[in-house]
Order: sequence, then C-alpha cells, then structure tokens
Amino acid sequence: MSYTINEAKTLLHSKPRCELGFFPTPLHRLDRLSEDLGIDLYMKRDDLTGRSLFGGNKIRKLEYLIGDALAKGAEYVFTYGATQSNHAMQTATACRKAGLKPILYLTAVVPVDETDVRSNLFLDQVLGAEIHIVRMLEGETEDDADERALQMAAIRRQELEKEGHVCYDVPMGGANRVGSIGFADGYLELTQQMQALGKKADFLYHATGTAGTMAGLAAGRKLIGSSSRIVSVNVSKKDDSYLKKAADLANQTLAYLGVTDVSVDPSADVEREGEFYQPGYEMPGKESTEAIKYLAQREGLFVDPVYSGKALAALIAHVKSGKIPQGSCVVFWHTGGATALFAEHEIVGDLSNTLIYDH
Ligand SMILES: Cc1ncc(COP(=O)(O)O)c(C=O)c1O
Repeated sequence: MSYTINEAKTLLHSKPRCELGFFPTPLHRLDRLSEDLGIDLYMKRDDLTGRSLFGGNKIRKLEYLIGDALAKGAEYVFTYGATQSNHAMQTATACRKAGLKPILYLTAVVPVDETDVRSNLFLDQVLGAEIHIVRMLEGETEDDADERALQMAAIRRQELEKEGHVCYDVPMGGANRVGSIGFADGYLELTQQMQALGKKADFLYHATGTAGTMAGLAAGRKLIGSSSRIVSVNVSKKDDSYLKKAADLANQTLAYLGVTDVSVDPSADVEREGEFYQPGYEMPGKESTEAIKYLAQREGLFVDPVYSGKALAALIAHVKSGKIPQGSCVVFWHTGGATALFAEHEIVGDLSNTLIYDH
C-alpha cells in the first residue's frame, strides 16, 4: 500500500507544527559538476531553510518538535550536542522565534578556547541560550560524556519543574518520531519539485549523524512508494546496527502518524556509506577537504567539513567507482552546516593555504 503525495501530506500536517523556516527550499541543477561527472546532478538547498542565514536540516525537524513543545505548554527547551552542534544552534534559533527559552548541554569533543569562541558556540551566546559545557574527563569516551550531559540536564530540569516551569526535551539531533516527520515532509517536497522538472531521482545522497534525517526520508519514500535509492553517508564510525536504528525510527514515525500498512525494512529500504567519516567526527578528511574546494571552485557553493563535505566526497567517489552509473539523475541533499567553516582549526583543517604575498 502506498499513499498519494496529497494523502501523505494530510497525514503529516495533522501534527502540531510551528512555522520556523522558508519552505520549499530551492532545488537546482549543478551544471558544471553534472558535466564533469557525467550525471544529471541537483542540489536540494536545506542550507537555506532559514530562519537566519545559518539554517540547516534541523529546522525541518524543529517545526514539528517546537510545534509539539508549544502544544504541551512548554516554556523551556533542553537539547544536546557537541559544542559546535548545528542542531543546538538551530534549536536555540527556533526557541527564540517561538518565544521559548533554550537550554543547551554541549559536550566539548573539541576543547573550547575561551579567548576565541567561534562558529555555533558563538551564535548560541548571541541567542542568549543557557549553555552548559560538558568537558571530556580523562579516559572518557564521547558517549560517556554525552550520558553525563543527560544526567546533569535531568537535574536542571527537576529544579525548573519544581519551580512550576514546563520543560520539553529535544533529543540530540532532534532524532525522534516527532522530529523525523519533518524529513518525511521534506521527501514529499523534493518529489514534487522533481516532478515539476519532469525528473525522477535515481539516487539521493545526504550526510547522516543521529539518523533522524535518514529515518524521515526513508519514511517519506516508503509512504509514497518511491523507488529512488537514498544513500546515507555516516559522519562518524558506525556499524550495520545503524541501519536497524534508522529503520526503527522511521517505523516509529510512521506509527505516530497512524500508518499501519507501510513499514521500512532495515535490509531493503535504508542504505549507508560507512567509510567517508574518516578520520573521525569533527576531523577533516582528505577527500572531504578536496570536495569542499571542488564545489566552491566549480559552482561557487559551500559545504562543510563535518557533514555535507563528507557526503559530497562519497557521492563523487561513487561516480568515479561506477556505483553511480553514468547518466544517472542524482540529488545531493545539502543539510547545511557552513558555520563549521569558521570553527576551530581542528574542525576546518587544511582549506585555506593559498595566499600569495606580492612585494
Ligand atoms: C549539517 C548537518 N548535516 C547532516 C546532519 C545529520 O543529520 P541527522 O542528525 O539527522 O542524521 C547534521 C546533524 O547535526 C548536520 O548538522
């Protein structure tokens, strides 16, 4: 069983939603890259979701999450991420638009230099979020530190609740059944835009972290019975259990929408590329550095070193290896994140070393 786009939209739009961004985001062809690579390549511009200049993929999820928070009478919104989290910054932005108070618990994967605070951590302060930095303890893994962040946030939440305030929790990346509705919606939006161009995507590439985007796209694809292949590019080390995690989240999203006759199969409906995160999360890779410069120099567009640069590197490598056959119609979903270009050197890497000094 599958649904028409309009039937699917009716289901999604039955949930509370708060208008935060500018949709539909543009979809346009990359003429020079298409010519270079021998494919018909389009870019879906979720770097332009708004609401500020520094949008990104989280705004789609936050329209539903903040809608839910408002429906529940919340006053404070808690969320989590790394110190340079795009998600945390977009959550703070969304809260301000909705009149809510953002509280961020941020794990310092890359240590903060307090004399030179940059990028999203800088914007979080301008937005006036309550920011708690969770330093990594000696011998602690990132997961351990994230767990500690959750525990500390729970204590802060109890304090506020005792004083009578209503708090709402947005998980890391906005990855839950509410947030993922935003990307099921995004898939419908893209399909309509492709139809208007008289095209059908053979492949869709995007960066995946918490799997919320991946799950939402998979749910949207399955809802309307589309056959486009979605290739989700990991930005940190994962194993194949990640596919089950994404499919489970997609199915929770469908169930939340009341859909009982469509489900996402972890062995058939989700696909991941697991090698391009190298050398690690928030660590620049040689291929992604090349991909960022290549896109900038051929198309005048920016992707970032942590997420979308790695996904673009995978797409280019897959064209070269033949995994994406010549002549294919391909969509690259730009998930935003360009503020990382102004982050710490550890994150940016070797992108700028071309100055010429004339005497
Ligand atoms: C720029 C960018 N792209 C992709 C992702 C991955 O999205 P998700 O967490 O939904 O997998 C993120 C998540 O933070 C992001 O900031």
